[in-house]
Amino acid sequence: VHVDQPMSIDIREFRNALGAFATGVTIVTTRTGEGVDVGVTVNSFNSVSLDPPLVLWSLARASSSLKAFDEAAHFAIHILAADQEGLSNRFAQRGVDKFAAIPILRGRDAIPLLDGCCARFQCQVVYRYEGGDHVIFVGEVVDFEYSGRKPLAYLGGRYAFTLHKPVLAQERHRDIGSTHFNQNWLSFLTHRISNQFIRRHRPTLSTHGLNEVDGYLLTLLLLRKRLSPREEINELIDNPCMNVSLSLAGLMDKGLAVLDESGTTVSLSEKGRRMAIDLVAATKVIEEEAEQGLEPEEVQLFKALLHKTINNLDIATASPR
Ligand SMILES: Cc1cc2nc3c(=O)[nH]c(=O)nc-3n(C[C@H](O)[C@H](O)[C@H](O)COP(=O)(O)O)c2cc1C
Repeated sequence: VHVDQPMSIDIREFRNALGAFATGVTIVTTRTGEGVDVGVTVNSFNSVSLDPPLVLWSLARASSSLKAFDEAAHFAIHILAADQEGLSNRFAQRGVDKFAAIPILRGRDAIPLLDGCCARFQCQVVYRYEGGDHVIFVGEVVDFEYSGRKPLAYLGGRYAFTLHKPVLAQERHRDIGSTHFNQNWLSFLTHRISNQFIRRHRPTLSTHGLNEVDGYLLTLLLLRKRLSPREEINELIDNPCMNVSLSLAGLMDKGLAVLDESGTTVSLSEKGRRMAIDLVAATKVIEEEAEQGLEPEEVQLFKALLHKTINNLDIATASPR
């Protein structure tokens, strides 16, 4: 029998390599004979068999929950939903009361069942295997529920989104790109979206007799409470087409904004505040229209990517090649 020489493994690199396997996040719970609820955050969960219905997960020997799981006849596995990161963190901590103030139901053997997850499996323990510094538990599913919520994902030691690859959309855009002017260019797309937003804003703005810069400044004043015209506004409005000082003077003429006594900062008058609230409400409606059909995670990702590209261009503008 050929036995490989034991390889000395760089543990950190080994962890990194294993972390490349994207998983969901689960919490596995059980209850001791003394009636103490136990639970751990676990991403080593996997399906094993459909018929019979088997699943597995592994628990570190170092876990203070090992004895409870070793002795239990049942456990429950909760596949966490995208908004349950807090619960995941709580059940990954040692020495805290993990179940404090959490609403629970009771399953087989009165094991605690958590709410709000994607899926929940109650299992009877059928095998336990030694697995190095872990113990592998195989459970037969005796009951399960599936809510259809979006799952929390875990990749490279961090929580992640789950998004399907937009295969069809990509194909369509590639088609357009090859026959027309470069409609798949970022510059084209961002220009177009910005124009669409402005066009949708116009009716509300003209009702109040405002132009786009006025609207932008009013909203800004509502959110920031006050602005110092010179530095702050120029920094915030990164758009050379916007004549900020002219617009600001116009707002003051109309009694919508007022200069403070020292003459350095501008804030909204009551009339301006009411108008700004109106504008913000209209903006919310347009944002909702724009986000239709997008998952909350997609919206979050879209914004993060826009921030990144804006930052890239800021840097490139500050130090052109
Ligand atoms: C996303 C994530 C996945 C985890 N997966 C496992 C796992 O599969 N097995 C394990 O033993 N510990 C895992 N842990 C660590 C345990 O949750 C943690 O060590 C345990 O809850 C500590 O408490 P205990 O000593 O009371 O068990 C994971 C932690 C996180 C944040």
